[in-house]
Amino acid sequence: MSRVFLTGAGPGDPELLTLKAARVLASAEVVLHDSLVDPRIIAMANPEARIIDVGKRCGRHSATQEQICDLLVAEALAGHLVVRLKGGDPMIFGRATEEMDALRAKKIDFEIIPGITAASAAAAGTKISLTQRNIARSLHIITGHGADGGLPGHDFAALTKSGGTLAIYMGGETLPGLAAHFIESGMEPSMPALLIENASLPNERHLPATIATLPGLHAAHTAAGPVLILVGEALRATNETVPVCLESALANG
Ligand SMILES: C[S@@+](CC[C@H](N)C(=O)[O-])C[C@H]1O[C@@H](n2cnc3c(N)ncnc32)[C@H](O)[C@@H]1O
Repeated sequence: MSRVFLTGAGPGDPELLTLKAARVLASAEVVLHDSLVDPRIIAMANPEARIIDVGKRCGRHSATQEQICDLLVAEALAGHLVVRLKGGDPMIFGRATEEMDALRAKKIDFEIIPGITAASAAAAGTKISLTQRNIARSLHIITGHGADGGLPGHDFAALTKSGGTLAIYMGGETLPGLAAHFIESGMEPSMPALLIENASLPNERHLPATIATLPGLHAAHTAAGPVLILVGEALRATNETVPVCLESALANG
């Protein structure tokens, strides 16, 4: 039986944790967690467990990925029940491959416990189906930043042509460049776009706009929490809620 669990902590709300994640956390001997994991979830761990914050936040590493892999392997080889807790789903922009490879290299068995990813939480928070029938036939989960911290090398024209909904992770800092690339690649400047900060948490904030206006709006309302950007025709459904969301965004400063 596995004693190592790469575990999704979900988007933040502790109630969105899976029962399985809660169960392994309660019996963990060591918990290695990322900085985006809500403290209320970490508090659900076995009180005897050693809790180690490996504190990575979207490219700004406090421990390198190599150090995290080494620690994970060392704790597993010591025979501990290890829960590697990651925000959202471990298999979506979660650097799971490096950790799985490190474990496989030492023939350490492990299990993946999926979590609710940020895009699902954002869809729930906005009450917008990301694959609305007859409007969006696909959903594209893409990164907003490249390996060097700049813009990613997406085929922006192909993404624009797909007509699907784009869920852009880690795109807060590169949003102006992303928007410019999409517009240059043929996206209508009026294409609906929505930024969701802190999805699933009490301080969740929505900025509904268009691909052309979202960068300016975002710059005027600096986000402190993680942000997800949704783009696509499916977002037109937000038209009704725009004044309400904008009002609350402005009120929250
Ligand atoms: C390194 S990625 C990890 C994604 C995670 N594995 C998942 O499945 O959601 C971090 C990015 O996920 C997004 N994110 C994570 N939690 C979020 C939340 N509660 N609200 C909005 N975006 C979130 C942001 O784009 C953030 O920059």
